[in-house]
Amino acid sequence: MKSPLNVVILAAGLGTRMKSKRAKVLHRAGGLSLIEHVVASAAQITASRNITVVLGHQSDQVKALVSPSGVRFAEQKEQKGTGHALLTCRRALASTPGLVVVLYGDCPLLAPATLQELVRRQSASPAAATVITTRLADPSGYGRIVFDQRGEVRAIVEHKAATPEQLAIPFINSGIYCFRADLLWKHLGKIRTDNPAHEYYLTDIVEILARAGHRVAAMEVPNSRELLGINTRAELAEVDRIFRERKVRELMRDGVTIEKPETVTIDAPVRIAPDTIVEPFAQILGRTKIGEDCRIGACSVIRDSTLAAGVEIAPFTSIADSQIETGARIGPFARLRGGSRIGANARIGNFVELKNTRFAAGAKANHLAYLGDAEIGESTNIGAGTITCNYDGVSKHRTRIGKDAFVGSNSTLVAPIDIGKGSYIGAGSVITDPVPPDALALGRARQVVKKGWAAKRKKKQ
Ligand code: UD1
Ligand code: CA
Repeated sequence: MKSPLNVVILAAGLGTRMKSKRAKVLHRAGGLSLIEHVVASAAQITASRNITVVLGHQSDQVKALVSPSGVRFAEQKEQKGTGHALLTCRRALASTPGLVVVLYGDCPLLAPATLQELVRRQSASPAAATVITTRLADPSGYGRIVFDQRGEVRAIVEHKAATPEQLAIPFINSGIYCFRADLLWKHLGKIRTDNPAHEYYLTDIVEILARAGHRVAAMEVPNSRELLGINTRAELAEVDRIFRERKVRELMRDGVTIEKPETVTIDAPVRIAPDTIVEPFAQILGRTKIGEDCRIGACSVIRDSTLAAGVEIAPFTSIADSQIETGARIGPFARLRGGSRIGANARIGNFVELKNTRFAAGAKANHLAYLGDAEIGESTNIGAGTITCNYDGVSKHRTRIGKDAFVGSNSTLVAPIDIGKGSYIGAGSVITDPVPPDALALGRARQVVKKGWAAKRKKKQ
């Protein structure tokens, strides 16, 4: 029988060096919080019920983010160090044989293949533990791996506690370990706080195991980027950049054209079909899905929306929580707010804002309009300057316009209001009463012309 594999993710710290009110693992890179990334990597090597996240700072928020994945939690009430954090799991996990992988919640770039290799090596080795290491040109801040003459790990020394010779060691502690469960839980309680920070350093377990006569192996990873830990905002930005680069590479590999990819921001969960073109500085965020043969204009921001095939988004358009059917053209400078549904081949032009509006196939609003809480029928034309007055100061009301209607420019539609199919609204109207199908409605003062009035006035001066 395969021995069980437990994974513990330490995520209780505040992350003082971030200088933030928010716990470090809640900060985002590549469109997901750090803890979501780490949980996703862990879920590649074991069932989620075998993953325990150690919570502390802002535990409710961290829990809310990752509990849908089915992981378990342990609470570290006071943050007394990484060794102390792992001890919070001892009671729950000590009776399970097999292996325990420990990950830090601030190391989100780790590739699942590296974790699989770690577990494979430890399973095949007589060592008590295997530690992932890499060589860094600038190892400052990281713990250093001290090897003995036989090439086995003798200790890990923290940067703060290291001697000048130890500081020169290029091998860093990634903070990713795989332990034999029995030996880990037997020796973990021996960690003391005799270091400059007076913390329980998990890294001390290595020396404790070595002194007890056990071997500790190291596994060197050549791609040191995937081991980057985040302690500062600058490191967060660097890791975010790496995630963005990874994402655009994946998309380009799968057939998406991305112009000036280094300027584009695409979140990890976004899906884009082949032959879509993404122009420079576009941001495609959240759970957005984009079909094939679309064009996403420069500097557009699209969040949590679904675009069918052949949709064209012109530059500087903002779209959130909306759905757009095939062949529609939106923008430039348009804004689709939450709950908008745009039918096939519809046109939304510049400076048009929609909120919670169904805009049927072939309808057009080409310039300067606000359509809120509205239903616009098929092939209806909304003139420039049309405003739905959907809010009476207390509640929101709906505007319903049938198909093939023509709303003249600068119309004010006072909701709740129904405008029948095929009807016309004269330009400049204020419409407060229902308009039956195929009617013309005019709601404005009749024009008065006074012949010769201007000439007479000029003579008087
Ligand atoms: C740690 C390692 C260091 C390694 C580096 C890799 C220790 C003592 N040092 O240092 O050798 O090179 O990571 O990135 O382990 N945490 C808790 N409870 C605590 C303290 C921390 O859950 O009481 C969590 C944090 O939320 C964080 C992780 O443990 O996700 C690592 O803590 P951090 O303070 O960032 O450790 P480093 O100083 O980076
Ligand atoms: Ca860290």
